[in-house]
Amino acid sequence: MKAKISAKRENIIDKIDRRIYGSFIEHLGRAVYNGIYEPEHPSADDQGFRGDVLELIKELSVPVVRYPGGNFVSGYNWEDGIGDKSKRPQKLDLAWLTVETNQVGIDEFQAWAKKANSEIMMAVNLGTRGPDEARELIEYCNSDTNTYFANLRRKNGFEKPFDIKLWCLGNEMDGDWQICHKTAEEYGRVATETAKVLKWVDPQIELVACGSSDPHMPTYGEWERTVLDHTYDYIDYLSLHCYYGNKENDTKNFLARAEDMDNFIKKTAQICDEIKAKKNSTKTVNLSFDEWNVWYRTKDEEKTAERWQIAPYLLEEKFNFEDALLVGCMLMTLQNNCDRVKIGCLAQLVNVIAPIMTENGGSAWKQTIFYPYMYASLYGNGTTLKTENESDTYKSKENTDIPYLYSSVIYNEEKEQVVVFAVNRSLESDMELDVSLEGFEGYTLKEHIELYSSDLKATNTKECEQVKPQSKAISKSILLSKQSWNMLIFEK
Ligand code: AHR
Repeated sequence: MKAKISAKRENIIDKIDRRIYGSFIEHLGRAVYNGIYEPEHPSADDQGFRGDVLELIKELSVPVVRYPGGNFVSGYNWEDGIGDKSKRPQKLDLAWLTVETNQVGIDEFQAWAKKANSEIMMAVNLGTRGPDEARELIEYCNSDTNTYFANLRRKNGFEKPFDIKLWCLGNEMDGDWQICHKTAEEYGRVATETAKVLKWVDPQIELVACGSSDPHMPTYGEWERTVLDHTYDYIDYLSLHCYYGNKENDTKNFLARAEDMDNFIKKTAQICDEIKAKKNSTKTVNLSFDEWNVWYRTKDEEKTAERWQIAPYLLEEKFNFEDALLVGCMLMTLQNNCDRVKIGCLAQLVNVIAPIMTENGGSAWKQTIFYPYMYASLYGNGTTLKTENESDTYKSKENTDIPYLYSSVIYNEEKEQVVVFAVNRSLESDMELDVSLEGFEGYTLKEHIELYSSDLKATNTKECEQVKPQSKAISKSILLSKQSWNMLIFEK
């Protein structure tokens, strides 16, 4: 099969905001406890953070980490996780039916985030709580004043504010699974009032309002319109969440979910602009895709798991090779929509639906999805170029024509590099790829990294890394193996 990608230097989408390569750590299962934090682990530092996990996170270069939830945040009292650890209460977490020890809270997490070289994207509880607790939390985190919560932070050992600049107004408030789920009207009002107090305490912050938890929610569209009607003047981003799965074991159709994600982004951006026009506003509300991944095998696991455990094995999705292909495509979708998507969070980062897995007291290893995420974060920087692709197509279950070739092209001016990410979605044929880069005279292919397995269901374990990238020899023609993810680096 033959295919072609054409791009022109001056034909750009936008500059990529590196925060699209963010991730997410929730107080859920073994994400925090026995994930990033395990004081008894041989690699743990003096604060109890696992050094081996931090090293893997640094390999990924994660610019921003959403915290502390997720569904967890809607029942969370942030004050439980500060100060003397021996006095912190152990409480029921009704989101995941577990016990939260509160041995990690914002005091510890901000220190961990510094070590990981990541910014925090802090979510406030708009489930059981509201503007009052949110304003106290931001005073604790960001204020330099001689006032109660800022002084409490100092008393707990932190003279300087944590200076958290990105805040989420709750989590998935459209879903009836959420603790204190709200109607769009109810949420729109409380989000607006919370936004006002947060920005009064720190006018430098950026705010994300909850959009839909999934493009297939029955309220999708109307939820956004109502929420934006209330919040438009006070927020900076609207969130999108989406997880895909391959329950039907139809890989081609599964890989076509990248188009579904693309539609979701474009429709949501349109809705934002509709409200902008309605309000005659000059401000553009952009998008924060702050939960996305493949997730289906371990969905709803908390409903059948033993209740009230501490750090149980929950939502530990074992990713296979085809999952890595879709994750690679989803990253390209974020890159190709970088004019509107400014933040993205792969959900999640460690143990829970994660690229990094750990064994309690033992090793840490990379799941299959680690690799497309790492390469996108390390090499997908600069300006996304508009592309025209020529490729054979196949039909998705919605009867849409899906091109076998899925790609993004990014020009990194600083490094004088053009990076092409490309997936060949054919399960039968290799693809001979022609890349035409206008305005990049003298640029030639310098590196071709491929992620390929003959087994779509191959997984990585702590003992054996079956799915890992390989550097391919450069020849005159570019060949994308059937069912493969690729990164092509062109340089002068
Ligand atoms: O990432 C797991 C869960 O998925 C999050 O807690 C929630 O926001 C979403 O439904």
